[in-house]
Amino acid sequence: MAEKPYEWAEGATLEDHSRRKHKILREYFAEYLAVRCQHPQQERFRLAIVEGFAGGGRYKCGTAGSPVIFIEELKRAIEGANMQRAVNGFALIEMECLLILNDLSRDAIEGLKGHMAPLQAEIAESVPRLHLRVEYLNHTFEGAYPRVKEFISAGRYRNVLFNLDQCGHSRVEHRTLLDIMRSTQHPSVEVFYTFAIEALLSFLEKSDPDRLKAQLRPFGINSIELGA
Ligand SMILES: C[S@@+](CC[C@H](N)C(=O)[O-])C[C@H]1O[C@@H](n2cnc3c(N)ncnc32)[C@H](O)[C@@H]1O
Repeated sequence: MAEKPYEWAEGATLEDHSRRKHKILREYFAEYLAVRCQHPQQERFRLAIVEGFAGGGRYKCGTAGSPVIFIEELKRAIEGANMQRAVNGFALIEMECLLILNDLSRDAIEGLKGHMAPLQAEIAESVPRLHLRVEYLNHTFEGAYPRVKEFISAGRYRNVLFNLDQCGHSRVEHRTLLDIMRSTQHPSVEVFYTFAIEALLSFLEKSDPDRLKAQLRPFGINSIELGA
């Protein structure tokens, strides 16, 4: 099964599996924010979100892609939390979010900037307690990762969420996933990691041990462990 490239310049088609993925992402992130901001005494929540494969922000049909979903849910969460706090007489919460958006496609990044700008303007004007900073990178995820780490460490973010929504199955190295999970720099890290299992299984070069080894490298599995 060949991977279909995303045509961000013309408008990418939203496939059904992506729609389902977005539903899970939205629901999970909403719950994550509700849990992380539930204590009435907490007055600030700081978070860095890393989109390794951000896409163009919106699909041809107008539906939100993952970067827009993150912003919509941040906005919804802070508005809901502060309404409840106000009703109960508690101090309002401030949220600070660094959103690092990387994609290899220049068309995706240009489209993304266009879709993010009105949302950022709206937040700056009407959600003053949500402090959003957006950084764009235009590299492979592996190429961008050192810069991503610099952003996180310069901002001293302890809560970090990675969305690694790659095309296919081989664009994130196993050692990078380990580095993300083991980093002491950010003690609370969560990773959404997607990969196309069908594409991987159909392309596995089971009769060629060297190629099989190379294909399995991103997962940290060797051919002996797979019983090949
Ligand atoms: C599945 S799409 C992302 C969809 C997006 N997360 C969303 O939910 O709307 C995968 C993206 O990865 C980008 N891409 C492909 N190879 C890449 C790489 N090695 N590093 C970073 N981005 C890459 C493509 O341009 C495409 O926009």
